[in-house]
Amino acid sequence: MNSLRITSLQRCCSIGFRQFSSLRNTFGCRSFLHSSKFFHSTTVRGNDKEELPEYMANTYHWAYVNPRNVALLDNNFVVNTILFGNYIRIQNFALSEIKQGDQVFMPASVYGSACRNIAKAVGEAGRLDIIDISPIQVVRNTRKLSRYPQVTVLRGDARSFDLQAAYDVACSFMLLHEIPDENKSSVVNNVLNSVKVGGKAVFIDYGRPSTLHPVRPILSFVNDWLEPWAKTLWAHPISSFAAPESQDHFVWETERTIFGGVYQKVVAHRIA
Ligand SMILES: C[S@@+](CC[C@H](N)C(=O)[O-])C[C@H]1O[C@@H](n2cnc3c(N)ncnc32)[C@H](O)[C@@H]1O
Repeated sequence: MNSLRITSLQRCCSIGFRQFSSLRNTFGCRSFLHSSKFFHSTTVRGNDKEELPEYMANTYHWAYVNPRNVALLDNNFVVNTILFGNYIRIQNFALSEIKQGDQVFMPASVYGSACRNIAKAVGEAGRLDIIDISPIQVVRNTRKLSRYPQVTVLRGDARSFDLQAAYDVACSFMLLHEIPDENKSSVVNNVLNSVKVGGKAVFIDYGRPSTLHPVRPILSFVNDWLEPWAKTLWAHPISSFAAPESQDHFVWETERTIFGGVYQKVVAHRIA
């Protein structure tokens, strides 16, 4: 990785750290800084496999770490093609849950315009805090979203962050299907815990395509080839990954699907 990229990464991490410190003061989120080893690193690099979890260093390196592919894939046309023309509808899944002034958290960034549109939806009266485990994504999204002062992008791990009751909306956008099965519960529970009473957790992801859906065999093939933990969402509802003790605190809406079940949205409202 060239020195320019390292410099900009270090700059964005330190800016993020300062901003997050003020967020910590506002919401009492001290534990987040302590729980995420990445915030203390001064030598983070974009491509070092040893600094990434095994599934990112191997299974998803080509998609989210390799700089040439990242530049190619971070594009609305490409994302929309991968999503069979449903990118706007999937974004609307998220946007319909967010209003101006909301404090929104995303446990991973997204290619294309989704984060930008969510930043616009919260407006300058709100805020959008995004973490991502891949340093190159943190750098890229910091740049992409630099004109939105309401946005902070930091390096962090959706499997281990700890932001208690800090947000009106926490939105997991097409992340869960990529998370290894043994870590899916951690991500779901961390997202749930980050929501204030009266707020909501929004999970948007692949669902179970209907039996005769024409893209079902294509998706099945692609998942077997490239996305080994995606089919788990064909078999298990997202709510089943939540800790049993969270049931007293959340009311889950019935899932909504589009495109013959290929994509789903599930919203969990925090009531206590
Ligand atoms: C949101 S998911 C899938 C998004 C979708 N394929 C798209 O259109 O971009 C992709 C992002 O999740 C990030 N990611 C994967 N595992 C993560 C984790 N444990 N914590 C935070 N971010 C993670 C990747 O680095 C990547 O930027």
